Amino acid sequence: MKNNFKFGVDYYPEHWPEERWEIDAFLMEELGLKVVRMAEFSWHKMEPSEGSYQFDWLEKAVNLLGKHGISTVLGTPSAAPPAWMVRKHPEILPEGPDGIKRGFGGRHHDCQSNEIYRDYIKKMVTQMAQRFKNNPYVVGWQIDNEFGNSHYDLCMCDSCAKSFRVWLKKKYENVDNLNRDWGTCFWSQEYNDFSEVEPPRKTACGANSSQLLDWKRFHSDLICEFSALQSNIIREICPKEHFITHNCMGFSDVVSYYDLSKQLDFVSHDLYPGGYWRGIDTITPAEIGAELDGIRGITGKPYWIMEQQSSITGWETMGRAPKPGQIPLWAVDSIAHGADTVVFFRWRSCSVGTEQYWHGILPHSGIPSRAYEEIKGLIEDMAPVMEEFEGSVPKSKVAIVRSYEQGWAMEVQPNAAKVDYYSQLNAYYKALFDKKISVDFVPETADLSRYKLVIVPLWYLSSDETAKRYEDYVKNGGHIVFTMRAGVKDERNICNTEDPLPGNLSELLGINVVEYDPLNANKIKVEILNGTCGKSGGEEAKAVENFGSKWADVLSLKGAEPIAVYKDEWYSGEAAVSVNDFGKGKAYYVGTEPSEGLMAELAEIWTREASVNTSVSCGIKAEKGLEVAVRETDKKRWYFFLNHTGETKAVTVPPELDLIAGACDGIEVMPYGYAVFEEELSD
Ligand code: GLA
Ligand code: ZN
Repeated sequence: MKNNFKFGVDYYPEHWPEERWEIDAFLMEELGLKVVRMAEFSWHKMEPSEGSYQFDWLEKAVNLLGKHGISTVLGTPSAAPPAWMVRKHPEILPEGPDGIKRGFGGRHHDCQSNEIYRDYIKKMVTQMAQRFKNNPYVVGWQIDNEFGNSHYDLCMCDSCAKSFRVWLKKKYENVDNLNRDWGTCFWSQEYNDFSEVEPPRKTACGANSSQLLDWKRFHSDLICEFSALQSNIIREICPKEHFITHNCMGFSDVVSYYDLSKQLDFVSHDLYPGGYWRGIDTITPAEIGAELDGIRGITGKPYWIMEQQSSITGWETMGRAPKPGQIPLWAVDSIAHGADTVVFFRWRSCSVGTEQYWHGILPHSGIPSRAYEEIKGLIEDMAPVMEEFEGSVPKSKVAIVRSYEQGWAMEVQPNAAKVDYYSQLNAYYKALFDKKISVDFVPETADLSRYKLVIVPLWYLSSDETAKRYEDYVKNGGHIVFTMRAGVKDERNICNTEDPLPGNLSELLGINVVEYDPLNANKIKVEILNGTCGKSGGEEAKAVENFGSKWADVLSLKGAEPIAVYKDEWYSGEAAVSVNDFGKGKAYYVGTEPSEGLMAELAEIWTREASVNTSVSCGIKAEKGLEVAVRETDKKRWYFFLNHTGETKAVTVPPELDLIAGACDGIEVMPYGYAVFEEELSD
């Protein structure tokens, strides 16, 4: 699909008097915007009372924008059921683990399994699709809004309990199987019948870890089903050119985006690098990169940004103002990692409601100011060249496995304080990011053969089948890294008992984990040995301030060689990191969470041994603080230089590369500036 919409904006015409719409459309056109997303929170405007569908206002907005050359993506409004519906059917409100219903007045106050609510949605989506299927300006659909956002508690109402039982019955067939796989013999939790099983509501004390994991799986499936309910209607009614997408949230894991994406034409993402809601000023460039690469990894293809930060963010309090240049820079960052379209959130800062301080391109006054001007410059600069790299992605040689299952299991039992699946993913990613090595995030089922190095963080739930696939990958020459807590459990969330840790990986890794020490807040000194990779073995290197944290596995080497050893505690001198030659490849084990310095040294070893080069070709040099991201096709490669700092950064770019966007004289990139260079690839 060739896409003519490179830049767009999220628009809420219903927040403003109709007389203003024309001015908005004019300003949008002047800005170079080609697409808007509308209506995802406008249920009441579209159905003010039961069965009275009102789309005239929306159609008016769609047509008005269309006349200004701006197409529309329509959002289905299922994230915000109206008050009349809630009043009539209070059972559609979601219920927390505490058994308390969440009230009306926010958003996502819906139970996604409730049949009454589903009926209302089916009718609404059918009506919307009928009304807009032939509208020439409507090009696609967004289902709901940020599934999982505001649903952290996951609804535990009676309707969800019922659906959970149906899901369990399908999975386990009979209750004896469930009892076995949940280990209900513990604390007398056996069930005589599926009807006795409940969602994991707040208990007097503790919970069953297998039940908790299944609950997360169930809810992910439920959300996919809830989404399919809508996407199926749109597919049936609308022309096939209408695309369907959803705005995902990076590493959010309430729903498996791998599963959800099967019903979408492409995935979208909402990117807010200003980190106010995480309690920080901005997330780091590596975190932005990981988030974007994580999104690309859902399908392995380019994506849209459906909400790109356009100004100050905030609800009750606000985050820092983006520095001059930072808004365009972050948008180019999105593109550099694989966005084919960037839609800014939102058009105009809203004067009412929860998000009065989540600013838009226009301030409250509606008068164009800095954000508008900066975005105008960005669009003038980037839109003409974006056609070029549409559809392209980096050809990464390194993959990090991202598994919802592992993340869920670690959430259920983090094992030690601060052990967090996604922080670990980010930590390994950062080491490669700093080396300017492009990384793909891949599902556990991915074909790994095109990667030279694969990192599998916290492979906690194991299966023989997947272990065998990893083994084959290494046998055939792959290099793989496993980390602490690998092979601890099976997929039921039951501890493996057949072999010592790391269970079915022992042979591949050539180790056993003989002891472990949950470090929690403690750190432990770790030293890298000389002659790593087992070539000269044993000798200790200079003492460096490297340490491990959170966890320490003590390794007994059964064929593997040590790479690093602990230098503290009663296991001082024992191996912390190992390598095993296996087939034509190598398998590494990291028994702790390495500090940044240690991680950098390890990454150096892994990439060197696996012959992974920086993704930036030899002629290019970029000073620290300057990110270089790459997209490529068979014929061309594009280098995106992104200066995430307030200082000018030096670069060396070979003369045969053409500057196609941004500013750079081949010697420096301005503070918060960007530059895009193109390279013709010879065969
Ligand atoms: C999310 C939502 C938007 C808006 C912004 C700001 O990304 O999708 O509707 O709420 O956050 O909070
Ligand atoms: Zn429910």
